[in-house]
Amino acid sequence: MSMTKLEIIESINSLRLKKKAVIMAHYYQIPEIQDIADFVGDSLALAQQAAKTDADIIILCGVHFMGETAKIICPDKKVLVPDSSAGCSLADSCNADDLYKWKLAHPDYKVVSYVNTSAAVKALTDVVVTSSNALKIVGKFRDNEKILFCPDQNLGNYINSVTGRNMELWNGACHVHSRFSVTELIELKQRYPSAKVLAHPECKKIILELADVVGSTQALLNYVKNAENEKEFIVVTESGILHKMQQACPDKTFIPVPPEATELLVDGKLTPCSCNECEYMRLNTLEKVYQCLCDESNEIFVDSAIAEKAIKPIEKMLEWSK
Ligand code: 13P
Ligand code: SF4
Repeated sequence: MSMTKLEIIESINSLRLKKKAVIMAHYYQIPEIQDIADFVGDSLALAQQAAKTDADIIILCGVHFMGETAKIICPDKKVLVPDSSAGCSLADSCNADDLYKWKLAHPDYKVVSYVNTSAAVKALTDVVVTSSNALKIVGKFRDNEKILFCPDQNLGNYINSVTGRNMELWNGACHVHSRFSVTELIELKQRYPSAKVLAHPECKKIILELADVVGSTQALLNYVKNAENEKEFIVVTESGILHKMQQACPDKTFIPVPPEATELLVDGKLTPCSCNECEYMRLNTLEKVYQCLCDESNEIFVDSAIAEKAIKPIEKMLEWSK
C-alpha cells in the first residue's frame, strides 16, 4: 500500500530521530525536500555543516560529489544520497586521468578545483573552491602564481576577469547553467525594467555581463533578503533556489529564466521544459529520502587512498574560507 505524503514525512521524522540522522539539502532540491531538511545550503555550507555535525548518518539531498565531499570530511559517518544516480555534468567533464596529464604538462602550476569534481580529481588538487569562496581563495595565492583551474570554464573566466589573473582553464561547463537563453533574458529585462538580474557564476560570460549581481546560490539568496528597496528579481540559476527566495521574501517577485531549448532530451524522449532545472538534482524525492533512511541504502564510499589525498585540499578550503 502506498503511503500519503504526510505519512512519509511522519515516518522520516521518527526515523531520523531514532537513527540520529541529519537531512541536509542543496537549494536546487525540490521544495518538499527543502522543507523537511534539517539544513538547506549551498555547496560550501553543506561541507561546513558536514564538518560539524554530530549525527551518525548524513542524508545528503544533492548530487554524488556532494555526498563524496561529506564522506571525505566525515569518514566515520554513514553518508547516503537518496538517488545514487544523481550525478553532475560539470563534475563529469573532468576525469582524473586527463587532469593528471594536464598537471604533468604544467609542472610548476598549482591546481585549483571547483567542488563539483570527483574525489579522484580532488586528490590531484592543491585547494578546492566553491562559488561562495572562489574569489577569496584564489586571492590567497601570490599575484604571479601559475594556476590550473578546473573544471568550470565559466567560473574560471569570471574569476580571471574579477581578479585580473590569467589562470589556465579546463574546458568544462554545467549543462544547466550554460543553456540559459540570452534572448529570453534580454526580453525579461525589457518586460521588468526595474528588476535586478541575479546570476550564478557557472553561467556563460554573456549572461554574467547582463547581470547586476553574480554569486553563489547563498550569495544570491542573501542579496534578495537584504535588498530593502527592490521588489523584482530575474534569477539566472537552477530554479530550485526560487523556493527559498519566495519563502524568505513573500512580497517580492522572482522570475526564472528559461533555457535555449524548450524541449529537453530525457531518456531519448523530447520532454517539455519551461524553466531551468537540473535533472540530476531533481532525481531525489521524498519517497527516496524515506527509503534510504529506512534501509540505509545508497551509501557513498570513497577509496581510502584517494580520500587521504582529497581531504587536504578540502580542509585547506574550509580553513581559507574562515
Ligand atoms: P553553489 O551551491 O555553490 O552555488 O553551487 C551550485 C551548483 O551548481 C551546485 O551543483
Ligand atoms: Fe552539476 Fe549543474 Fe546540476 Fe549543479 S546544476 S549539480 S553543476 S549539473
